[in-house]
Amino acid sequence: MSSIKPSTGNHPLNASASRHLRAEVVAMSAYTPGEQVLDCIKLNTNECAWGPSPAVLEALRSCGADALRLYPDPLSRRLRELSAERYQVAYDEVLAGNGSDDCLTMIYRAFLGAGDLVATPSPTYGLYDTLASIQGSAIEHLDYLPDWQLPRNLARVGSKLVIVANPNNPSATLTPVSELRRLADAHDGILVVDEAYVDFALGAGLDASLLPHLHQHPNLIVLRTFSKSYSLAGARLGLLFAHRDLVGQLLKVKDSYNVNALTQALGCAAIGDRDYHRELVARTLSERQRLEQSLKRFGWSWPASAANFLLVEVGARAGELYRALKARKVLVRWWDRPELATKLRITVGRSEHTEQLVRLLEELR
Ligand SMILES: Cc1ncc(COP(=O)(O)O)c(C=O)c1O
Repeated sequence: MSSIKPSTGNHPLNASASRHLRAEVVAMSAYTPGEQVLDCIKLNTNECAWGPSPAVLEALRSCGADALRLYPDPLSRRLRELSAERYQVAYDEVLAGNGSDDCLTMIYRAFLGAGDLVATPSPTYGLYDTLASIQGSAIEHLDYLPDWQLPRNLARVGSKLVIVANPNNPSATLTPVSELRRLADAHDGILVVDEAYVDFALGAGLDASLLPHLHQHPNLIVLRTFSKSYSLAGARLGLLFAHRDLVGQLLKVKDSYNVNALTQALGCAAIGDRDYHRELVARTLSERQRLEQSLKRFGWSWPASAANFLLVEVGARAGELYRALKARKVLVRWWDRPELATKLRITVGRSEHTEQLVRLLEELR
């Protein structure tokens, strides 16, 4: 039985204490992350299906007591040096975050105050909304055009920030680099390109990243994460790339020790093992192909994926299938929202996961 006791919520101070909260916080809804359940097949939050590099595990084993006793390097210097080298930028053009979510938090803190505007294509990664609510900022959603083409007037709504996830979540689709570069030129504000899944596109030989063009666009911020292709979602590590003046300002608003010592060590080891990283991406792409092949028998469709997941159009039974799979210990992602209600987002798992998923889908047909 659970030993967690629910709060009774009726302490006499509660009502009066709540009245001091910022109105934006009271009014907002919390971000709902994908469910984290251990004893099931997790195809719902786009983690990597295989574990991290043996070099990462070795680095974890080598973390001694001092890595816990002492505060970590507040500037994550070694990690940033290695990242700069790996991604061909200067040290002061990169900063590290506690996941790319933390990098997004820094961006929102630094650029957005009450009444400011963010614009994103929609549907996309839900945290962009939550962070805007926290700042008391408004967010304008511009619907993706058919075939997941970028909406045309993203630069024209007068927002301080435009954020595009590329590849996009939940569609897994890729907007061409040239189009995003035009957007950066046209937008009188900051363009954030969230490249959480880009390694899977690059691994498939696509010209997908804005990073090589960073120096041509002083208003561009590029985000990367170690949660997907590096298999370090549990460690929480993200990188932000931008002009050094922006990085300098963003560093001022980060939490003081935002990346813990273990994560800094694991990140350095992960960056150092390029062969293993390539291998993880290649395995994911090959398993994605198997998954697509297996799903064809159901007559469903999905946009071409440039990531480690598929957004599958399954029709009116999507919610029912999600619940039935969950009852059988396979988690996929489903949103009860009109634009996504007929779709399931399925993360690429290992081959035994694909097999179990397909077996259950056959049973539920
Ligand atoms: C588009 C996008 N950006 C950022 C993130 C969060 O990444 P991190 O784990 O680095 O915070 C996710 C996670 O699913 C995502 O889909």
